[in-house]
Amino acid sequence: MPASPRRRILVTSALPYANGHIHLGHLVEYVQTDIFVRFQKLRGHDCIYLCADDTHGTAIMIRARAEGRSERELIAEMREAHLADFAGFQVDFDHYGSTDSPTNRRLCGEVWGALRQRGLVVSRDVQQLYDATAGTFLADRFVKGTCPRCRTADQYGDTCEQCGATYAPADLIDPVSTLSGARPEVRSAEHLFVTIEQLHGFLAEWTRSSGALDPRIANYLTGHFLGEPLRDWDVSRPAPYFGFEIPDAPGHYWYVWFDAPIGYLAATAEWCESHGQDVAAWWGRGNAGTPAEIHHVIGKDIVYFHTLFWPAMLEAAGLALPTKVRVHGFLTVNGQKMSKSRGTFVLARTWLDHLDPAALRYYYAAKLSGGIDDIDLNLDEFMTKANADLVGKVVNLASRTARWLEATGLAATYPADGGLFDQAAADGIEIAAAYEAGDFARGMRLVMLAADRANAFVDAEQPWKLAKAGPEAAGRLQDVASVALNLFRQIAVYLAPVLPTLAAQAGELVGGAIRSWEESQTPLAGLPVAPFTPLMKRIEAAQIAAVIDASKAAAVDEQPIPGETPMDANAPAATDSAEPLAAEPLAAECTIDDFTKIDLRVARIVAAEEVPEAKKLLKLTISLGGDATRTVFAGIKGFHEPAALVGRLAVVVANLAPRQMKFGLSEGMVVAASGAGAPGVYLLAPDSGALPGMRLH
Ligand code: 2FM
Ligand code: ZN
Repeated sequence: MPASPRRRILVTSALPYANGHIHLGHLVEYVQTDIFVRFQKLRGHDCIYLCADDTHGTAIMIRARAEGRSERELIAEMREAHLADFAGFQVDFDHYGSTDSPTNRRLCGEVWGALRQRGLVVSRDVQQLYDATAGTFLADRFVKGTCPRCRTADQYGDTCEQCGATYAPADLIDPVSTLSGARPEVRSAEHLFVTIEQLHGFLAEWTRSSGALDPRIANYLTGHFLGEPLRDWDVSRPAPYFGFEIPDAPGHYWYVWFDAPIGYLAATAEWCESHGQDVAAWWGRGNAGTPAEIHHVIGKDIVYFHTLFWPAMLEAAGLALPTKVRVHGFLTVNGQKMSKSRGTFVLARTWLDHLDPAALRYYYAAKLSGGIDDIDLNLDEFMTKANADLVGKVVNLASRTARWLEATGLAATYPADGGLFDQAAADGIEIAAAYEAGDFARGMRLVMLAADRANAFVDAEQPWKLAKAGPEAAGRLQDVASVALNLFRQIAVYLAPVLPTLAAQAGELVGGAIRSWEESQTPLAGLPVAPFTPLMKRIEAAQIAAVIDASKAAAVDEQPIPGETPMDANAPAATDSAEPLAAEPLAAECTIDDFTKIDLRVARIVAAEEVPEAKKLLKLTISLGGDATRTVFAGIKGFHEPAALVGRLAVVVANLAPRQMKFGLSEGMVVAASGAGAPGVYLLAPDSGALPGMRLH
């Protein structure tokens, strides 16, 4: 029985592209969605987890060409690999479709028909870069050139990694096709657009009032998109393009981002077909009975597709809107972006070859708090935590008590335990609330506290001594072990969404398969206990080293695919020198009040010029957003080309008293690092997404 009224919950993860393998970054999303779904199922709700391969687009077309085979052969092979990786990590979809399916083609036609009928489709000529050597129009990421704003070389056709500017590929200076190396020409082609501005009012209202979005996401949308008219959305691509040809516009194909989210509908329709259900029961509006909830789990990079375009399409087609769009951050490994040269760009397959997937599921769960912050996989911490928590606390409870019950089974009635079982049973409310909110980190903390209490009980009762004490202690030994094993199974119920294998093993040991959250509420008694078999092994440093080595080797073997980020050959070594800190010891302690006196802000450098008379100084004009600009003289000359600084974000001490210098008034200070160990002055840059004027805390 469900713990609350039975809900109907449809959950999706973003559809992975079929042009690459699943890696640890992807798994942050699939694992967390799987945990959420398993939790809902354990609670007794009707929950389905749907996903599909995202198969269309230029990237796949180009990769297939580079490999000398058809797109369909490529996507079929990738599908098998994806499914094997997901299965290895126990990501258990109820249905896994493909955006290249007949169902998706049909549904794209239906949504398209609705958009046409509502007068939301217009056609316009577009200037696009064309690679005459490769014979194709170029998607943004297949063009590289110099950023028109900050003039940094080697930037993609849509956005500059240096200054964050967004632009059209044709705006790049000296553009080059990454397919052929040819200089692309500008050609005109007809494209079809959805005029989502017509749905502006609806989107503004839905964003704010539906409850589907975290307020921070709603604010971001208001600040970046909804504050001005919404630009028409270009949803078609001219041939050649790997995708579905638009039935009423021959020679034009739906853009991959048009048919991808419709893949959610198609996956539902296919699941419904095999389960005798009507897709309208999930995506229809105004159904009788319990309305379905729709939860999309996505990364922060695809927010606007899911919160503007997708709801606009659903609204136009008269379909149900998402109940929740759950946005998460990215993965860093050892504090840095995953890197092929450092061996931290780890494929799912590589991990599975050397390490237990369950340990990663637990580690991710322990890090995920439901927010949009990035999470870091620190490999040392991973090993310590998995060993300490899973082996040292959870498995240990069973491994040092189960064997005393092999002959006798659990005590006939659950013994007095000083309230331990009841306390953990009561914690179930908070643990469940944490799962529901996606704050798995809190859930894991509460479960580990319960494990600590249980272990303290075993430590105090010392069953190994009771076992040696002879027949008169046998009753007490059975009681102590029965308590410990019940507490272990209770923990296994709480961890079942994260650790399905451990839950299954706990069930085999005692009490049978765990099927419901409610099993955490009542202790077991008088049942047989199976012989104990090891549940989980300690992780050894050598296994992690093997993953890193294998990932490095795979990166070296890999053939570069056009348009993919090249291997970062110049990345620094992983071990940092102690020299800078030793050469400049920490300053005297300060209070938080001391710190908050200093108002550090994000600023954009809008102009930079040499000061010919000064050896070390550059004159910078910085913007704190809006009209607030300042002049700052920064001692970074010789380390930074003035032109390369324009457009980039920096950190400034914004409330520093102005200082009259020989060359002019300096109205602040740009923060930069320097010290022993390496020459240079290193400007601090915030993560992408930070805006001028934001305060550093
Ligand atoms: O960003 C991506 O990886 C896309 N393949 C996600 C598509 S999600 C959905 F809309 F289909
Ligand atoms: Zn730039």
